[in-house]
Amino acid sequence: MMLKDKVTLITGSTRGLGLEMAKYFSENCNALVVVCSRNLESLEKVKKIIKGKIMTAKLDVTKRDEIEMTIKTIEDKYGRIDILINNAGFEFDKKIWYKKFHEVELNIFDNIIKVDLMGSIMLSQHVIKNMLKNYKKNKSFNGVIINISSTPAINGHVEGSPYTIAKAGIMGLTKHIAREYGTYNIRAYTLALGNISTYSTYNSMDKEHRLLAKKETSLKRWGRPREVAKIAASLASNNFTYATGNTFVIDGGNIMI
Ligand SMILES: NC(=O)c1ccc[n+]([C@@H]2O[C@H](COP(=O)([O-])OP(=O)(O)OC[C@H]3O[C@@H](n4cnc5c(N)ncnc54)[C@H](OP(=O)(O)O)[C@@H]3O)[C@@H](O)[C@H]2O)c1
Repeated sequence: MMLKDKVTLITGSTRGLGLEMAKYFSENCNALVVVCSRNLESLEKVKKIIKGKIMTAKLDVTKRDEIEMTIKTIEDKYGRIDILINNAGFEFDKKIWYKKFHEVELNIFDNIIKVDLMGSIMLSQHVIKNMLKNYKKNKSFNGVIINISSTPAINGHVEGSPYTIAKAGIMGLTKHIAREYGTYNIRAYTLALGNISTYSTYNSMDKEHRLLAKKETSLKRWGRPREVAKIAASLASNNFTYATGNTFVIDGGNIMI
């Protein structure tokens, strides 16, 4: 399989998109997935859901000590991290989403940026340290970092300003990593997602908004988490070794660049 035994750390991976990627990477690609959540109960549940090779880690991406502990545990057990997917994102909250930019309290910006952007920055710093050690030992080592963003970060949006702003920062993070660490065989990608049907998005919208989301695409439907997982796995594989820093738009053909 294309990612056989690749140690893959996926943040926020006991539900939604993160869970689907964890399942696909471990069950279909034979990767060794580190499944993460802030919630111990969710981690226990996931052990029964995923059939492939996994280890679990209690990880809040805003907590440096938990990041350090997770990385150390993986290093002690496997020595290396091949793939990092910065997927954890602040919960979709309708009250925040529909608030006008000028009315959003600063602490809300702070909270969202802390998870989506600062969390991705901290994880990337720690994982890159490990990747560099492995590259020094073995020059054929390949590291891959995939950052999960969203289409408003490219095109802007009239709603959800704190999410858009945090997700736009993530695109800069990808490009920086690609430029600075390319010579160490570390590649980075951004996935800019449109409407992907997870519990947090699809189920929190009313009929009218669900329909609008569907209509704005060329394919006239919502995306499926499995479709995102397949693209992430392809990017992480050796099929993409001469592409880095890119933003891949996965939105059913709305934004076309
Ligand atoms: N679905 C979409 O249409 C869509 C569109 C654009 C972008 N995205 C992005 O895709 C990612 C996944 O979305 P989703 O729809 O699957 O959302 P979701 O079901 O709400 O999942 C969010 C995940 O983030 C984790 N998380 C939240 N705060 C965290 C923290 N402080 N530390 C660690 N983990 C944290 C949660 O883990 P625990 O609660 O278990 O800790 C959960 O697993 C997010 O980054 C989201 O912004 C999704």
